Amino acid sequence: SPGSPRELLLSRIRDVPDYPKPGVLFKDITPLLADPAAFTALTGALADLCTRHQATKIVGLEARGFILGAPVAVRAGLGFIPVRKAGKLPGATLSQAYELEYGTAEIEVHAEDLVEGDRVMVIDDVLATGGTAEASLELIRRSGADVAGVSVLMEIGFLGGRARLQAALRGAPLEAL
Ligand code: PRP
Repeated sequence: SPGSPRELLLSRIRDVPDYPKPGVLFKDITPLLADPAAFTALTGALADLCTRHQATKIVGLEARGFILGAPVAVRAGLGFIPVRKAGKLPGATLSQAYELEYGTAEIEVHAEDLVEGDRVMVIDDVLATGGTAEASLELIRRSGADVAGVSVLMEIGFLGGRARLQAALRGAPLEAL
């Protein structure tokens, strides 16, 4: 409905046709980040999901998952753990390769940041094909930690990310605001 938090968030996401390549409709969240009411509503809603699902740590996925995940962690009173593209973390890491449309990518986390007994909420801006989120869930499981859920601002439904994530979630909630 007009005036609802959902409408506020939607109104602050800019569609950019043919970026970064022809045929792709890019969802630009920079107008939302620049609007304090919208940014506050977004981080508050994501922090509520962390509390509801009894998360004990926040994982943010580089790079836009850092912008959202860090304030969510502060608001939820939890620690923030960055999952980075390969080669950026100085300490001992766990790494996970995954398939892109063309080629492969690799993400990493500091091994000591996630331990058995943790309940981790994964935060990102967009779930598209689900490849990045799926790889992050593999990393979290391999560390011995549990997954509290995956929470994103938006889900591009036709790309099938929800179906791709289903097995790795093992019943944990996937929520898109
Ligand atoms: C985007 C987005 C997600 C991921 C979603 O990040 O922020 O992390 O892609 O795509 P997927 O579901 O198909 O894996 P991107 O790789 O563009 O990195 P950036 O945030 O550093 O620009």
